[in-house]
Amino acid sequence: MQELQELHKNMRMGVAPRQRVCYGNTTMQEMIVNGRAVALTAGVTVHEAARAAGIGIPVLCHRDGLHPSGGCGACTVEDAATGRLLPACATRADAAMRIETASPRALAHRKAALELLLSNHPADCEAPCQMACPARLPVPEMLRLIAAAKWGEAAVLAQRHPVSCPAAPCEKACRRKPLGGAVAICAVHRLLAGAPPAPPQPPPAPPPKIPFRSRMTGLADDTLLALAHEKGPRTELADGEAFTREHARTEAARCLQCGCRKAGDCRLRELCADAGAKQSAFAGGHSAIVRERDGRGFAFDSSRCVLCGICVRVAQQAGASIAPAFRGRGFDARIAPPLGRAWHDIPAEVLATCATSCPTGAMSSN
Ligand code: SF4
Ligand code: SF4
Ligand code: FES
Repeated sequence: MQELQELHKNMRMGVAPRQRVCYGNTTMQEMIVNGRAVALTAGVTVHEAARAAGIGIPVLCHRDGLHPSGGCGACTVEDAATGRLLPACATRADAAMRIETASPRALAHRKAALELLLSNHPADCEAPCQMACPARLPVPEMLRLIAAAKWGEAAVLAQRHPVSCPAAPCEKACRRKPLGGAVAICAVHRLLAGAPPAPPQPPPAPPPKIPFRSRMTGLADDTLLALAHEKGPRTELADGEAFTREHARTEAARCLQCGCRKAGDCRLRELCADAGAKQSAFAGGHSAIVRERDGRGFAFDSSRCVLCGICVRVAQQAGASIAPAFRGRGFDARIAPPLGRAWHDIPAEVLATCATSCPTGAMSSN
């Protein structure tokens, strides 16, 4: 428990445990990783040395080319020579080490580190409509494309997922149901699926391994009401009136965009699946979902942020003069624009790079 507390403190403070990488010279030649001799080069980290020998160590807050942070604990390994648990991404390799990447202690530590991150993570990876859809149509994505008038892309998406469910389970699950009526997902889907055939596409990817699906805990009633505000009631058609693109755009604008934009491409989710981390392991308050946008397609949801600092370091490395920054300390730490600035003050290309680099759905761009 003491180790966990220290780990949690490190994660919150963005402070790496003591053994930090140093880029100084070294004369080390080899160390042992999982019983194998692994060649060392000057200043290499445990993670880099292992990877060069084909031994993978999971990372979350680390990214090649950036100075290591060593704060998340996802890459914890054990040095059997000393019995110490070390962050592989931020620890300089040493010939005296005997690294075990999958010892029971290392695995337990990694799992606990991830579960701590999950303890206040909304984990509403997939929207309820998508989860209810037998064809797993990515409804929010389809509606987002329509709202952006990207009709061709929306049609491709719709046509890859057959319309085959007259019972409309998606609409029954829609979070707008009590807020002006469910989004008319089926009418939109049929409109697009009946459009001219899209060019042949590969079949949809199978759903990712899911350690947690959608509890929607982060969407409190007041948040929902705020999100639903000014979005109007469901489109009602007169007798015989056809559902048109204009109707589809109106409905798309009503969508609350539940779920996570990176549900199928989230490093945290992947690692949790691999480690068997469970969201319920540590009780924690879930941060309210607050979506901030820059008006140019960039979106930030602090509730999904794991404070890895990759966005900050990527922007610093790119030499951005205005960039996302850490604000506050400890449990109040968060990522935000610099003091006195807004997201739209940050150059769009900087935010696009941050969004691409962010390992969760905290930052995304259209
Ligand atoms: S509001 Fe949009 S994303 Fe949320 S459940 Fe309804 S259709 Fe799906
Ligand atoms: S926004 Fe993304 S990249 Fe930035 S600190 Fe949060 S999780 Fe990491
Ligand atoms: S501490 Fe190594 S990946 Fe986060």
